Amino acid sequence: MESSGTRQGHGQTARTPRGVRPRARDPLALLIAEFDGVHDVWRSAAGTVCVAGPESARAVLGNRDAVVAEASDFYRTRHGDFGPRAAQIRIGRSARALMRRHLDARRAELPGLVADLLAPSAVWPDAGNLLVLRHLRDVLLHRDAPPQLHATVGQIVHRAVLAGARHRHSPPSRLFFRRRALNFLHAEIRDRQRQSDPSLVPRDLLDVVVGESERGADPKDLAEVYLSFLFAAVGSVGFALGWSVYLLGTHPDSLAAEPSWTVREALRLWPVAWLFARTPSHAQTLGGAEVTPRDLLAVCTYLVHRHPEYWERPDEFVPERWAGAVPDGAYLPFGHGPHTCAGATVTMRLLEDLVELITRDWQLSVTHDGAGPQVGPALAPPRFTAVLSARTDGPGRR
Ligand code: HEM
Repeated sequence: MESSGTRQGHGQTARTPRGVRPRARDPLALLIAEFDGVHDVWRSAAGTVCVAGPESARAVLGNRDAVVAEASDFYRTRHGDFGPRAAQIRIGRSARALMRRHLDARRAELPGLVADLLAPSAVWPDAGNLLVLRHLRDVLLHRDAPPQLHATVGQIVHRAVLAGARHRHSPPSRLFFRRRALNFLHAEIRDRQRQSDPSLVPRDLLDVVVGESERGADPKDLAEVYLSFLFAAVGSVGFALGWSVYLLGTHPDSLAAEPSWTVREALRLWPVAWLFARTPSHAQTLGGAEVTPRDLLAVCTYLVHRHPEYWERPDEFVPERWAGAVPDGAYLPFGHGPHTCAGATVTMRLLEDLVELITRDWQLSVTHDGAGPQVGPALAPPRFTAVLSARTDGPGRR
């Protein structure tokens, strides 16, 4: 249960976007510093085999030639990979359907949430995560779930999902909380396993995980899969919204861009899911590098998305590029191949709706101290303040 710091230019300041100051060395900064723009696959100083080329990245993630052991980061638990694959697929489909029904039914509440939670000003990226939490609350946990569990899910968000959350609490307090939270979750999962009725439509993502897994699945594994959903839905979606708002606020000329271009371009420059771990299935040559099953492959979509051979002005925020032809094969914000994100379409829809509302109904301005992104398992925006003032003009006037 955790998330959080940055990057350094690719040997040149041009790779650091305007107004963003790199912080001390972090995993992303190290990768950027090592990538020479020529060798798409290389062994890093830390021993990891890094993959930055679009073709090699797709070969690994798509895995058509069985180059890696089949797995995704989403279903990785501390007991190994959650399975079988058929259950993963059922869970993904059912979760997407649940999210879609919810977004259809509750779309009308979004303008009120934006007004209540983002105006007149809010501190981001937390504000984005908390807005998404509020909007998806019933999907995460249905209304009649035990109040204690509702409180626990809220606390998990504050203590583990928000950017830098782990630095906001002492290690003993984190450990104590973690045990207590997992105990509540395990108890609820055991209850639901006893009452599980396959004919019922899932009320929330916990029902999805319990109902679509194999009989007798370990509640501890199910709790971890549920937590993956919590991190994806509240963490990743909130951070992606944060990046769109941050980039629009720091590039006011782009405020009139199509919301879908803005969201796509924000996810290109700052892919929230920026690093994928895989293990080679056998000794082989990958993108010119010799690898064996003892290696850890790290596919870095941040570098793929800024690869100079595929993207023009790779480090610039240019939403308009999405009006024309783009190198699709070098764009993997939701992964690629069999494990492509099951929530990609619903996520894009929610993000586009929110960006449209924010730019249509409000004037946006952003202030920040120039700090770099918060790099953890997810790539979160720096802390910034966004001021929203209601527009008095135009068709979207509130
Ligand atoms: C901005 C938001 C999101 C991003 C950037 C994102 C990104 C990703 C990525 C990159 C993967 C592939 C991981 C890998 O191959 O190792 C993935 C998998 C997955 N995502 Fe998302 N995701 C997001 C939101 C969501 C949401 C809201 C849901 C819930 C419906 C979701 C459900 C899943 C599932 C179930 C998988 C596993 C797919 C499989 O292995 O079959 N994601 N996501």
